[in-house]
Amino acid sequence: MVKALVILSEGAEEMETVITVDVLRRGGVEVTLAGLTDSSPVLCSRNVKILPDTSLQDAKLNGPYDVVVCPGGAKGAQCLASSSEVKAILQDQEKSGQWIAAVCAAPIALVSHEIGKGKRVTSHPSVKDVMVDGGYNYSEDRVVQDGKLITSRGPGTCFEFALKIVESLQGEEKSNSLIQPMLLKL
Ligand SMILES: *[C@@H]1O[C@H](CO)[C@@H](O)[C@H](O)[C@H]1NC(C)=O
Repeated sequence: MVKALVILSEGAEEMETVITVDVLRRGGVEVTLAGLTDSSPVLCSRNVKILPDTSLQDAKLNGPYDVVVCPGGAKGAQCLASSSEVKAILQDQEKSGQWIAAVCAAPIALVSHEIGKGKRVTSHPSVKDVMVDGGYNYSEDRVVQDGKLITSRGPGTCFEFALKIVESLQGEEKSNSLIQPMLLKL
């Protein structure tokens, strides 16, 4: 089965986290939602608490993952960007030619961990300058894919973001088949 690791840090955007996990699971992807610090409930950006499946430390033992996903949220993204554990995971992921996906403010973690430098990306508009200064080719498209790097812009683009991940891992037919049952209007 195709596997995804979604990293959940304090201050993560809850919609971005849950929409992505849900759509990927609908798409037949085995998702592990891993708490950055441990396996206890994580307080998200609008005070929703999410219980991760496991800690990141334990999730690493079940790798490799076909994709590593970084949800946004201003504070959550900062946590991802400053974590040496996340750095190691993303660098391994890139080195082994696997997928990496980041949405909203989370692409700042790509800058700080030197992932996909120069690639075409998007992000939440609030961190556009960080991406441009980091040497990325910035796009304002809602979802951008360059090689095995997928980026997107915010809570409102997360269905498209997650569908793009499903398309990349499971094919376009599978991804398209998820739209109608969710009554999604793209
Ligand atoms: C940025 O990406 C666009 C679209 O793929 C491409 O046309 C352009 O040449 C790229 N710019 C740089 C500086 O790589």
